[in-house]
Amino acid sequence: MLDLKPEVFREHFNSRHFVLHHELTGHPLFELPRLIELARDTAAKRPDDLYYDAGVTDLNERWGTSRCEFPVDETIRRIENAGAFIILKRAESDPAYAGLLQRCISDLLQISGRELERKMRRREVILFITSPRRITTYHIDSETNFLLQVHGEKDISIFSKFDREVLPEEEIERFWCEDNNAAIYKPELQHHADVVRLVPGNGVHIPVNAPHWVQNDNNISVSVSINYHSWDSEYAHLYCANYFLRRKLGLKPTPPARSPWLDFLKRPVGAALLKYKDRRHGPVRKR
Ligand SMILES: [Fe+2]
Repeated sequence: MLDLKPEVFREHFNSRHFVLHHELTGHPLFELPRLIELARDTAAKRPDDLYYDAGVTDLNERWGTSRCEFPVDETIRRIENAGAFIILKRAESDPAYAGLLQRCISDLLQISGRELERKMRRREVILFITSPRRITTYHIDSETNFLLQVHGEKDISIFSKFDREVLPEEEIERFWCEDNNAAIYKPELQHHADVVRLVPGNGVHIPVNAPHWVQNDNNISVSVSINYHSWDSEYAHLYCANYFLRRKLGLKPTPPARSPWLDFLKRPVGAALLKYKDRRHGPVRKR
């Protein structure tokens, strides 16, 4: 399913984006009638796994502020003119997509080595259906992602997750601890991005927290995300500890991965803070 080059993978996985190829193009699971069926099913049985909006043109618009006037199956039927962006999460709840996920993850583990499996908390298939010319707003994600293009062509602007002009520590801390929309697009830094052309048959690996936004061409686009979430101990705990140190105590905390002993001390503190926040306000639901 996934054509991953061992040397590229070894050098860049989860630190820098890279292009890969896949075999999902032409698969009946990604034709519109099948996607309408999946969308209807998602809306009926798992409404929290469905997101769609229409008419968004501002790269900094917060997710969830624009809504569609039609039900999701009708929106897909009208996709040509709807200005819509539709996300079907946890598609692997349907056994057909679960089989596909398993094959993709097995390709990934073959290249990475089985030890990667220990970091995986949840594996997921997400489907994106996009109207012609629609943008996907600027954001960062909490999952390690392989975004595979199946129908249509589009450009994705991807920034380095290590570029602290584009993505300051404060924004990452807020993202993990408080706000999904914490990453702010800075138009004057657009030239820091790599623009990757997505066409049917290729895809791009997007590392955790690498900022990105997408401009669809004048065509309907269908993309598939094969992704996994890591255990909170890998990112969320440390960033939540730093969020607390900065926001509540006015300190300038050392970023994660600079000092192993500081990370060792902060991890349980971050875990306790996250637990306390979740209990009081509910968990920050990541995209
Ligand atoms: Fe994303």
